[in-house]
Amino acid sequence: MIERLQALRAAALRDLDSAATGKEIEDARVTYLGRKSEIASISKALGTLPDEERRALGKALNEFKADVTARLDAAKARVLERAAVVAGPDVTLPGRHPWVGRKHPITRTLERLEEILLGLGFEVAVGPEVEDEFHNFEALNIPADHPARDMWDTFYVDGGTLLRTHTSPVQIRVMQSTKPPIRIVAPGRVYRNENPDASHGSEFYQLEGLYVDRDVRFGELKGVLTRFLRELLGQDVTIRFRPGFFPFTEPSTEVDVRCRICGGGGCSVCKGTGWVELLGAGMVDPRVFRAVGYDPDAVSGYAFGLGVDRICMMLTGTDDIRLFMENDLRFLRKV
Ligand code: FA5
Repeated sequence: MIERLQALRAAALRDLDSAATGKEIEDARVTYLGRKSEIASISKALGTLPDEERRALGKALNEFKADVTARLDAAKARVLERAAVVAGPDVTLPGRHPWVGRKHPITRTLERLEEILLGLGFEVAVGPEVEDEFHNFEALNIPADHPARDMWDTFYVDGGTLLRTHTSPVQIRVMQSTKPPIRIVAPGRVYRNENPDASHGSEFYQLEGLYVDRDVRFGELKGVLTRFLRELLGQDVTIRFRPGFFPFTEPSTEVDVRCRICGGGGCSVCKGTGWVELLGAGMVDPRVFRAVGYDPDAVSGYAFGLGVDRICMMLTGTDDIRLFMENDLRFLRKV
């Protein structure tokens, strides 16, 4: 039987080496390894043989299968490769779409905001994301026992160092280093230790505005913000000024626009109210002027802080602020 196996092995290898098509390879497989092949009958007879012969034949059978299977795989690879060369590429298939990279929607929004505000006479200023308590809180008249200073709202780096919770500390830095008149905008990333939802991130962007001069009035602030929001969101935008409170401005206001996600009908972004809060603003508090060494009787000014991500949501029709931080290309390619 061992001799018969050797003859079968030689025949199988010869047939496989000369096979030129998938069909010929498959025929050889059925003939030499298939359920009805001679090998299958020899394997069945194995159990009837005495121990020694069975061991020798079993070994020869395993070698036969290993050799023939390896040659079968080689034959398949050879035939496939030849077929690819003969057929060449299929020019009728649609090409692969090359994705062109583009700016993140938040970057585009920041650029748009700056463009409009530079047109209104503001200059761009920047400040650090890792701040100290003086610039983020104290100079802004936020006392030590204010809830915003709590660990639950602020990410502290250590002792008195923290990740800024708003862009307002840039106001302080600019006033400390510059004499009035001042007219700046300061875009940047801010951090808050809060539970994210559709309209709240724990890491988001703000854009601060500050104007300090002689005899600056609240009416000017209202006029600038209205003009700015109309230019940004369209002349037909519906704007609402609400009385608000910030320790660093007096009087203060919060400004909402009609929710563009639901058209005002109510959704998860506007929490069913039909309005989305885009910014806080007000007249700079005299205590802030004193903290930076200005005379509050000689100068006055206004400040505002915009939520850039919320504006981006309105511009792009995005109904969840968290999408901006997830870097999911399926989302980024759409907005
Ligand atoms: C402030 O941060 C003040 N510094 C703004 C300010 C500046 C007031 C100058 C007066 C003068 P507030 O916490 O309300 O205020 O945030 C301002 C805006 O940031 C909000 O109107 C909102 O649009 C956006 N914002 C606030 N919290 C979040 C958040 N968790 N996720 C996304 N956007 C937020």
